[in-house]
Amino acid sequence: MSITPLPSFLPETAPFTPQQRAWLDGLFAGVFGLEGGVTPLSKQDVAKLLPGLIDAPDEAPEEIDDGAPWHDPATPLSERMKLAEGRPLPRRMMAAMAQQDCGQCGYNCKDYADVLFSKKEKRLNLCVPGGKETARMLKQLYQELESGAPKTDAATEEVAPAPLAAPGRSRDNPITATLLSRYRLNKEGSEKETWHVEIDLAECGLDYEVGDSFGVFPANDPGLVDAVLQALEAPPDFPIGGRTLREVLTDGVSLSPAPDMLFQLISYITGGERRQKAKALAEGRDPDGDTAVLDLLAALQKFAGIRPDPEAFIEALDPLQPRVYSISSSLKSNPGRVSLTVDAVRYKVNDRTRLGVASTFLAGRVKSGDKLRVYVQKAQHFALPADPNKPIIMIGPGTGVAPFRAFLQERIATKAPGPNWLYFGHQRSDFDFFYEDELKAMRRAGHLTRLTLAWSRDGDEKIYVQHRMRDDGRDLWAWLERGAHIYVCGDALRMAKDVERALIDVVAVHGKRSPEDAARYVEDLKKNDRYQADVY
Ligand SMILES: Cc1cc2nc3c(=O)[nH]c(=O)nc-3n(C[C@H](O)[C@H](O)[C@H](O)COP(=O)(O)OP(=O)(O)OC[C@H]3O[C@@H](n4cnc5c(N)ncnc54)[C@H](O)[C@@H]3O)c2cc1C
Ligand SMILES: NC(=O)c1ccc[n+]([C@@H]2O[C@H](COP(=O)([O-])OP(=O)(O)OC[C@H]3O[C@@H](n4cnc5c(N)ncnc54)[C@H](OP(=O)(O)O)[C@@H]3O)[C@@H](O)[C@H]2O)c1
Repeated sequence: MSITPLPSFLPETAPFTPQQRAWLDGLFAGVFGLEGGVTPLSKQDVAKLLPGLIDAPDEAPEEIDDGAPWHDPATPLSERMKLAEGRPLPRRMMAAMAQQDCGQCGYNCKDYADVLFSKKEKRLNLCVPGGKETARMLKQLYQELESGAPKTDAATEEVAPAPLAAPGRSRDNPITATLLSRYRLNKEGSEKETWHVEIDLAECGLDYEVGDSFGVFPANDPGLVDAVLQALEAPPDFPIGGRTLREVLTDGVSLSPAPDMLFQLISYITGGERRQKAKALAEGRDPDGDTAVLDLLAALQKFAGIRPDPEAFIEALDPLQPRVYSISSSLKSNPGRVSLTVDAVRYKVNDRTRLGVASTFLAGRVKSGDKLRVYVQKAQHFALPADPNKPIIMIGPGTGVAPFRAFLQERIATKAPGPNWLYFGHQRSDFDFFYEDELKAMRRAGHLTRLTLAWSRDGDEKIYVQHRMRDDGRDLWAWLERGAHIYVCGDALRMAKDVERALIDVVAVHGKRSPEDAARYVEDLKKNDRYQADVY
């Protein structure tokens, strides 16, 4: 029999020999009882418990206040987990999540990790940006939580579910709203397909603040549902929990990507080499180098003819998750309405066009007058300055312009006197200038103090918003010194990082600071909520 060593209560830096550490851990385990894993004590806690043995540090560094170094959306999961190695379990759970505080799971990453750890939340598959990879890692960490602790009454007790939020205030309690209209923001000839979508909220009475995001429950493409039904060789009206199989496939389950559980199910009902392959896929291996493109239909085609029991098949799938979009309107100038700015995700894998489920739902499948299940995702640290006199600088290429249209409408409606500077960029000036007429009208009226544009595909050279920021460095620095709040919205993987780098360079050059001091200046802007991001 192997004995799993208990995790340590003591911080790694506490000055004890291994023998002292083992004795003290035993003592603390006895004093506190072990339930569901251990969070090492801080140095202050140890100093309080053992006065005189070690000195209390001057400051109280909270474990989480280290900037969560793993939380860079461009860092692969394996590296994030390495960065979190040796941390308490909830921190490692947090590191498994793919993008800091995108809000789509209904929590901040830290809160999601904490409720998983305390078992108040049992759903391990809520992290939309992390998808299957994050769900798999969370499952592994959850097993550690289950196996690391002796079962005490407290550990096995059912935790009461959190109270339900008011209708429309959380993904767990959506409300019904009506699609009003939509129009395409790119002109004919563009390579992009981005839509302005208007939704009526008058009937349901839902309200929001600028900076908030809007959650939408989509429905899958009926063409894809038909193809899945055909590949399953199952009758569309097969009854599943009071609904038909077609209905459940339409709005109950995700059709992409194929989850591990499905491959597990397939491994039970196939034999030979196919079983081995399905088992490997269920364990997260990639025997044929194609896992990245295996949606449900591709998985069924790969294992053609398996004909699983429809009920077991549905059981093996993930629920269809809502998607969130930055709100691009102010309620003050659009009473009873909300608008979104949605880039339709379509791409080809082999001969089949794959559709982003929610973006193509909003971009086409839902019709004017149709009902939608929606909710408001409150913004965390993404809001206009409380003082309307403060200047604001907004950097929003592509769909990143969405919340800034809302900010501008709000500043106009509230007659905020502070100056407004918008950086917008996209591929081509002729086709991709979203809200061109509105923005130019705001500029003419003086509401938009400066409008700086960056077109990446107009000429031979790529011009991005950060190039324009560097060109404008002297003025940007002057605005910052006047107390400007600066905002960035859009692509998290590359753009937001490049913009931050440009900002640091601007501070270094025009603020005459060393690169380290410039980076600290930008960190301070963040700490003081003067540099805020809404990136995805
Ligand atoms: C806070 C926040 C605000 C957001 N605001 C906006 C907004 O204002 N406007 C907006 O358009 N989006 C916004 N998004 C993104 C939005 O939530 C969705 O993620 C996006 O619309 C895609 O969802 P989908 O359901 O259409 O695609 P999904 O069905 O989720 O498919 C997307 C997946 O498809 C795959 N994929 C996409 N393109 C390719 C490709 N070319 N090749 C291979 N695979 C690919 C990727 O795996 C990707 O994760 C925001 C996200 C967050 C978190
Ligand atoms: N999860 C999803 O499936 C999903 C769905 C929709 C959007 N997104 C992502 O969300 C983001 C927003 O998409 P979008 O349609 O609004 O526009 P986008 O693809 O971000 O493009 C907007 C502009 O930004 C430019 N750009 C590219 N790299 C940049 C960089 N490093 N720094 C600054 N600008 C850069 C683009 O130029 P070039 O293209 O010419 O290089 C283009 O001119 C994108 O990252 C997109 O991938 C993801």
